[in-house]
Amino acid sequence: MSEKKFKVYVTRLLPGPALDVLRETCDVEVYPNDEAIPYEELLEKVKNRDGIITLLTDKIDAQVIKAGASGNPPLKIIANYAVGYDNIDVACATEHSIYVSNTPGVLTNTTADIAWALMLAIARRIPEAERFTRAGKFKGWSPTLFLGGDVYGKTLGIVGVGRIGAAVALRSKGFNMRVLYHDVRPNPEIEREVNAQKVDMDTLLKESDFISIHVPLMPETRHLFGKRSFEMMKPTAYLINTSRGPVIDEEELAEALKNKVIAGAALDVFEYEPKIVPALLELENVIVVPHIASASVETRSKMAMMAVENVIAALNGKTPPTAVNRI
Ligand code: DGY
Repeated sequence: MSEKKFKVYVTRLLPGPALDVLRETCDVEVYPNDEAIPYEELLEKVKNRDGIITLLTDKIDAQVIKAGASGNPPLKIIANYAVGYDNIDVACATEHSIYVSNTPGVLTNTTADIAWALMLAIARRIPEAERFTRAGKFKGWSPTLFLGGDVYGKTLGIVGVGRIGAAVALRSKGFNMRVLYHDVRPNPEIEREVNAQKVDMDTLLKESDFISIHVPLMPETRHLFGKRSFEMMKPTAYLINTSRGPVIDEEELAEALKNKVIAGAALDVFEYEPKIVPALLELENVIVVPHIASASVETRSKMAMMAVENVIAALNGKTPPTAVNRI
């Protein structure tokens, strides 16, 4: 029988010491398999818990929230182990007086690093060249072997300059780039630091050599990039997405890449994740990686600690430090 005051469910084992900290004051049950918890099981597990730590792969819809809210004890917090929380029906959680929290800030630099890694890798065709070399096809230096595009001195367009978009912009300093950005709000820091210029979306599409996407997934950003955008982009331009897959119409992207409407794309996220539109995988001018933008040991451990701190605060009657709603 439990002696601890609170009951918390965690939908996956998290790296670092955070869950041990949680265990000091809570009964903690963790979904044991390294896969997304089946929806029906989540519906059961959320009942009679004070808190739950969820992943971006867990669909926390009204049914799950109501199951948690009607438990004994009723659910008090959903701590998402991600900065994005489009997997959660926040309005419904608020209606049921349940906090929702995320993990902003700690993954900013790690994610910005991977946006740059993808940008350099797609421009200089690194994965393609690596596959070639590994396959024993390298028969000697050639003036035309794997010609790519330069990054230095080019125009970088950033769509969405929150924390991560701004960190991507700041990294352009060493690359002598012209930086354009599109956002509803101006960002004085990147305007000052890298002389970034706020432009409308069409200008960004037409003038950028690299476009890096950093918007949250919302009804307004779903399929923000599709046929029309690709046709406005330069045929030599590259698209990088480390935000959320559905921001791009993936079928239309595959078509644009196949027909060389744009030069290439590097994707960490996918419209139907973990599925990837098959036409994309047939192409050489695309890089696909499995949603690893925040995947450094340090960052994933910090994200876990942040989720735990939010849970502990909520269970002790305090406002979680990074709550995304007010109750
Ligand atoms: C997030 O935190 O939203 C990221 O997508 C995880 O890598």
